[in-house]
Amino acid sequence: MEFIVSLQLMRQYAEQQRCAGRRLALVPTMGYLHEGHLQLIRRARQLADVVITSVFVNPTQFLPGEDYERYPRDIDRDRRLAEAAGSDVLFAPLVQEMYPAGYTTRVSVLGVSEPFEGVYRPGHFDGVATVVTKLFVITRPHIALFGQKDWQQTLVVRQLVRDLNFEVDIHVVPTVREPDGLAMSSRNVYLEPEQRQKATALYRALQRARALVLQGERRRSVIVQALLEELARVPELQLDYAAAARAQTLEEPEEFAPGEQVVLLVAARLGGTRLIDNELVDVPQYGAERA
Ligand code: PAJ
Repeated sequence: MEFIVSLQLMRQYAEQQRCAGRRLALVPTMGYLHEGHLQLIRRARQLADVVITSVFVNPTQFLPGEDYERYPRDIDRDRRLAEAAGSDVLFAPLVQEMYPAGYTTRVSVLGVSEPFEGVYRPGHFDGVATVVTKLFVITRPHIALFGQKDWQQTLVVRQLVRDLNFEVDIHVVPTVREPDGLAMSSRNVYLEPEQRQKATALYRALQRARALVLQGERRRSVIVQALLEELARVPELQLDYAAAARAQTLEEPEEFAPGEQVVLLVAARLGGTRLIDNELVDVPQYGAERA
């Protein structure tokens, strides 16, 4: 596996591969790779000839007071894991080259970036859109892979690709979970053993609300109530939001329509650790009549 730090070398490598007629996939990450990231790399391996995994803890997507400084980093481990999962390149640019002195440009996606995470982490998606734009320009991928774990991020990236005419196909990979349901995340290492156990409440809440929708419940308030009830069983959880929204637009109608795809979203803090999770569910065509 190639290990590339320099933007110029990354550009050259990608350009050569493109000219040789190869199909390039980009898997953007902030490193400290876990099974969720590796699943994106393995999927990329199936879809493309050349897999580029980027590892960059992007300072512009962290708010002041967030965990930028203490975000876990282990580039040697990332190198081994990315290679074993089938990555051809690990691209690990330096902050000072991505954002040199005098850097002033920011990419802002409006609309889907505004609710939920946009409320609790204002400016976060500007940082994501900016770095993803830069990574697309540097690596010129044919496809890029993102995890469903960060559902709102996938919508922001899709909007970015449409609006800025990037010729990149976006693939979304299902969330990889621990055996007890907790969504894998680089931030899970922050959890004390006791918190780690309590963190499964997010998954349980999503499953309970999902079951309700599958039984035919379409009223948003009732679906959200199920999320809230399950989350309330763990008083240590400080809830940011629990919501049900149209999966593609994040609109929150009073009632969902049969056949609509709904995303159930939760974000909560446990001690100093912020957890997010989501689940997709299709509203059954005939469920409400039976319920
Ligand atoms: P990071 O949190 O490292 O995640 C990198 C990619 O892995 C994202 O697309 C994320 O959705 C996906 N991912 C994380 N946990 C996952 C899981 N349990 N199952 C499946 N996929 C999972 O998201 C970012 O980094 C950054 O915002 C980035 C896009 C790299 C821009 O800086």
